[in-house]
This record gives sequence, C-alpha cells and structure tokens, in this order.
Amino acid sequence: MPLPKAELHLHIEGTLEPELAFALAARNGVELPYADTEELRKAYLFDDLQSFLDLYYGLMAVLRTEADFEELADAYLARAAAQGVRHAEIFFDPQAHTARGIPFATVVEGLGRALDRSEERHGVSTRLIMCFLRDQSAESAMATLEEAKPHLRRITGVGLDSAEVGHPPSKFAAVYEAAGALGLRKVAHAGEEGPAAYVREALDVLGVERIDHGLRCMEDPELVERLVRERVPLTLCPLSNVRLRAVDILEEHPLPRMMAAGLLCTVNSDDPAYFGGYVDDTFRAVHEALGIGQEGLRELARNSFEAAFLDGGPEEEALRARYLAEVAAYTFD
Ligand code: ADE
Ligand code: ZN
Repeated sequence: MPLPKAELHLHIEGTLEPELAFALAARNGVELPYADTEELRKAYLFDDLQSFLDLYYGLMAVLRTEADFEELADAYLARAAAQGVRHAEIFFDPQAHTARGIPFATVVEGLGRALDRSEERHGVSTRLIMCFLRDQSAESAMATLEEAKPHLRRITGVGLDSAEVGHPPSKFAAVYEAAGALGLRKVAHAGEEGPAAYVREALDVLGVERIDHGLRCMEDPELVERLVRERVPLTLCPLSNVRLRAVDILEEHPLPRMMAAGLLCTVNSDDPAYFGGYVDDTFRAVHEALGIGQEGLRELARNSFEAAFLDGGPEEEALRARYLAEVAAYTFD
C-alpha cells in the first residue's frame, strides 16, 4: 500500500492518457495529427513550458461532451487511489474549452459527476479549482468567473496557469479580488519559469494561500524566509520541472534544499500523462534520485494534508485529522 497523501497540483486535462485521447477522438469524430498512441507519445519531448502547452491544448480537441469530462476525471481518480491519494484538489482550465465552443456547464458538470462519486468509488475526497489562463486577457478571466457563478457549489477556489513569463500575477488583481468576494480560495502558479518577484506578487497582490511550483523562490533568500515564516505551502512538481527543463536532471532538483530551509513543500504530479508519472511515482523518484528518506517522504505526505483546503468546519477538520493519522501510522515496506 502506498503512503497516503493529498494531491494539490494536478491539471485534470494533464491526465489525458494517449489511449483515452484516441478513444475519445474516435467517439467524437476528431482527427488527431498522430497516427497512433506510440507516435503521440514520441511527441512528448518538450523544450520548455510553451512547447508542452501547445501539445496539451491541441489534444484537448478530443474532449467534447459531459461524458468525456466525466470519464477523464474518473480515470484519474482510479489511478490516484492506486497511488495512495486520499484527497485531490483538481485544477481545470475552462477557457481552453469554452474557446473551442464547449459550454462551461459541460466541463464542470462532467467533472462534477465523477467527483460526486469519488469518495464512494475510489475513497478519494476531492475539490475543484478553476484556473484562469494567464496568457489570455484579464477581461476573459473575469468573464470566466462570471460564467462560473451558477456552478459555485462545485468550485472551491481559483488558480492561475499557462505561459508564465510576461504575464505577472498583478494582471489578474481584479478577478482575484472578485473571486475572494465570492468566498473562493486562491492559489496561483508562480516561480515555475517566471521570477521570484512573481511569487511575491501572487502573495501581495492576489492574496493567494498557496503557491503552485514556487521553485524560483530559491533565488531570493528574503522571500524564502518569508515563505517559511508565513508557512506558505508550495506545490512542487519535480517530474514536471525535469520534462519542461526548469531543472536539467532530477538529481539537481532543489527539493532537499527547500525542505532543509524549512519551506512547507508538497510533491505533486502536475500533468502526469505527459511527464512520466503519477504522484506516488514522483514520491519514489525523489526518494531514489534525491535521497529523500522515509521520514522525509512522511513529512511531504503530512504537509500535503496540512496544506489542503480541509478547514471548512469540524467535519473537514476531522477528515484532515483522519488522513494525518493514516500518515503517522503508515509503515514503509
Ligand atoms: N497548465 C498545465 N500544466 C501547467 C504548468 N506546469 N504550468 C503552467 N500551466 C500549466
Ligand atoms: Zn501546473
């Protein structure tokens, strides 16, 4: 049995495995520019974030109906459960679908159908986080928040993703303020390819509670000190950082230094269908490549539940306590 953990940085569209992509393409009459799954997998050699995003957004063409989104999420939850995930906070990119003519409701209701059954079917509690595409306009983000209003019972928070450099968090100040006023939680990708200054902006201008990635905070010792002091969780994705060339090789990932500095680190899979592993695969990889031992892995698992949005009342706190007890009681084999 794998170590129990929460996954806090996972793009549901990034769980689209080549086999499902081809099955959905056939079902929906979508022509893919690859002969088969093998040829598609061969295209998974990325130079940077943008080269990945081009393929990632392109492949989304196969997702068209509520049933497609439901199947995508259900397949992820089954895999996640097998990897020890007990709680998943799942990102989705509504603008990548509405721009193709897929209604917002189709996306959120399809995902929601799978999430509704997740505890019973997979033993995984879930939350949904709606991301704004930062390379689209601030107006488009605001229109997306407006579209989300009839579906807020399904949405816990907002995030910010896509091409980072040149699209600082401050561009989205107004939409984050509006999201906060609606009671939504706030996170943002920052410091993946963008500078440490974007991490500061996400905290100071957007008021985020967690930073997604945050890798480049290590270039700014004062920022590190602040993140430690304020116990700001970082949702790191080491396999993603290697595949998108934020670090050269896993053995050089700063995770051990970040943990040693006292940062509240979590380890996540980002887009596991593209980056060579789901979350327990990632735990194993950092154990092997970075020498993070059993107690280090346990710390990462504990952090994941501490950083989860499980503070909405006594029932959620009890669930968090139960998960933390599972981590404490876990014996490695
Ligand atoms: N969308 C999906 N994966 C992403 C990543 N790693 N960074 C930014 N946007 C993303
Ligand atoms: Zn991400």
